[in-house]
Amino acid sequence: MATIRDVAKKAGVSIATVSRVINNKGKIKKETEELVQAAIKELAYTPNRVAQGLSNRRSYTVAFILPSINNPFFPEMARAVEDVAQANGYQVFLCNTDDKREKLLGYLDNLGTQYVDGIILNSHITKHEDLERLQKNNVSVVMMDRVLENSGTTSIMVKNREGGRMATQHLVDVGCEYIAHIGGIEDEYNSTQRMWGYRDVVGHKSWFDSSWIGRGDFSVRSGYQIAKELFTRHPQMDGIFAGNDLLAIGALKAAHEWGKQTPNELAIVGFDGIDMSGLTVPPITTIQQPIYRIGELAMTELLHRIENNVKTTKHYELDVELVIRESSMKSNKWSVNN
Ligand code: RIB
Repeated sequence: MATIRDVAKKAGVSIATVSRVINNKGKIKKETEELVQAAIKELAYTPNRVAQGLSNRRSYTVAFILPSINNPFFPEMARAVEDVAQANGYQVFLCNTDDKREKLLGYLDNLGTQYVDGIILNSHITKHEDLERLQKNNVSVVMMDRVLENSGTTSIMVKNREGGRMATQHLVDVGCEYIAHIGGIEDEYNSTQRMWGYRDVVGHKSWFDSSWIGRGDFSVRSGYQIAKELFTRHPQMDGIFAGNDLLAIGALKAAHEWGKQTPNELAIVGFDGIDMSGLTVPPITTIQQPIYRIGELAMTELLHRIENNVKTTKHYELDVELVIRESSMKSNKWSVNN
């Protein structure tokens, strides 16, 4: 049974072009359309996914299981997953776990056994037994971002600890002497790695002990709450590295209420590089993750495993970048770089 990929190859065009011709979407040159229609006819291609799926036992559907699209970090990632899926003739189910195990298991039970050809899993509450069950049901899996350590599946994440070091060192470089850390979810690998990156830079300082670290849940509210607790505990604090941009936004609000001017009295650095971090007053310095690239790579790897029955695994650790904005410009020796 010919696939959309065969038609594209035959006609010498992209899969997305074939998809546009089939769905009559967008402007297509007449000669291109004729090439595609000729290839469809010659290969007796059936664009009807259900018919195709029935013949080769495929649903042409994948699930993207993630914590919550309420956090603006995930929609950009989901967009990349959907762009790659759609270009290859696949649909995407978006599944929010809210970090609840019963929701994750519900998705895996319903989707993982019958409806989907593959799953992209972004969830720190995943257990090895979950992946073993999916493997038994011959469902291809790729993990990304919140990856289960030693999962035995292909995974894509970023250099979290190095990003934590970059953020904290930047605060030292601009002149901060007493730097606190507002971390993300307690038992989540990315958060812990960023916290260790912070400790790599200040852990040896005479003033440092664990009271300079607060752990939130990656939300604005917890960033605000923990910043207030840290202010009370350490009034001499003049810098905060927050484990994601929402925590940093919460800390910015708390600093304002505390009467501390950012950056001169309290410099703040976040992590993620969501659009919102550039829209606050002042805009927040952050560690930029290649969010779209992570999603694009995860979906590309998943398709490769589905369509070529690949069983070998790959592990990606992508670079992050320090994006300097006004929230850390304590001295004029530094200039904003984005
Ligand atoms: O902002 C959400 C956080 O959860 C991001 O830092 C991302 O890495 C995910 O782990």
